[in-house]
Amino acid sequence: MNNYTGFGAPVMLFLHCSRIMGPPQWSDMGMWLQSVMLLLVEHGLASCPQECWAMYGETIRQALGLGDDQILFTGLAIGYADEDAAVNQWPVPRVGIDEAVDFRGFAP
Ligand SMILES: Cc1cc2nc3c(=O)[nH]c(=O)nc-3n(C[C@H](O)[C@H](O)[C@H](O)COP(=O)(O)O)c2cc1C
Repeated sequence: MNNYTGFGAPVMLFLHCSRIMGPPQWSDMGMWLQSVMLLLVEHGLASCPQECWAMYGETIRQALGLGDDQILFTGLAIGYADEDAAVNQWPVPRVGIDEAVDFRGFAP
């Protein structure tokens, strides 16, 4: 449920695009989102991409006055990180590089 208060963040960004956009443009949006998230870190802010908002695309479209030609990709909660918050104690282990990438022709 905390997703839908943006985990208490004071700012929400909603990223949407025209429905006619295909997989290449969705990939572009992912890269754009990543760049925004990195720039936020550079400015001392934190963010949380929240795909969960896409389940309520119609509601968000109405709230923001967007046309039906727009599709909601994701929400991005933006604020200052609270490292002590319970949600930030959730373990998010990473797999090793060898598990994520198939190196061929050279050693990692
Ligand atoms: C595109 C995208 C959508 C996500 N959607 C959600 C979401 O709806 N709710 C959520 O709690 N976490 C969501 N996550 C995961 C978190 O935002 C975050 O990436 C994860 O907890 C790892 O955080 P960390 O990299 O700071 O450890 C999403 C991540 C991505 C990349």
